[in-house]
Amino acid sequence: MLDKNVVKLLNDQINKEFYSAYLYLDMAGYYADAGLEGFENWFKIQAMEERDHAMLFRQYVLNNGHAVVLGAIENPTKKYANHKEPLQDALKHEQYVTASINAIYDAAFAVKDYRTMQFLDWFVKEQGEEEKNAEDNLRKIEMVGLDGKALFMLDKAIGARSYSAPSLELD
Ligand code: FEO
Repeated sequence: MLDKNVVKLLNDQINKEFYSAYLYLDMAGYYADAGLEGFENWFKIQAMEERDHAMLFRQYVLNNGHAVVLGAIENPTKKYANHKEPLQDALKHEQYVTASINAIYDAAFAVKDYRTMQFLDWFVKEQGEEEKNAEDNLRKIEMVGLDGKALFMLDKAIGARSYSAPSLELD
């Protein structure tokens, strides 16, 4: 059995990961409306990865003999003013998720819950990659600007992303 506070934070993280999927699906919708199918595809895949993250947290809670508590998922309501804004928000959101995972890590460390710390190690590394991807996307759009041929080419390149299942597996 795990510490009560750690279980609560793990359950909260399930919700945050599903919200991340929602948020990125909403961003995919923004780019679909804008006719930027490559960016749309990138965010659709990002949403699938976030769903995978939520499912990993869910499985870990279950595997440790605790009940999974699924809270309401907030709806993303932001209206984006230009093609750069979702990328800025995505970076901010990943920084928020990193802080959230670090807070679970802190709580696990405080009660010497080495098992949960080891589980979270994968997410600590993953967050490094997620923040880097978000920074790279932002840098690229800043390089090409918001209109024209360069944006069209960037959209094509970004759209080449394909989905792959997470390297962490829990039975
Ligand atoms: Fe599940 Fe983008 O962090």
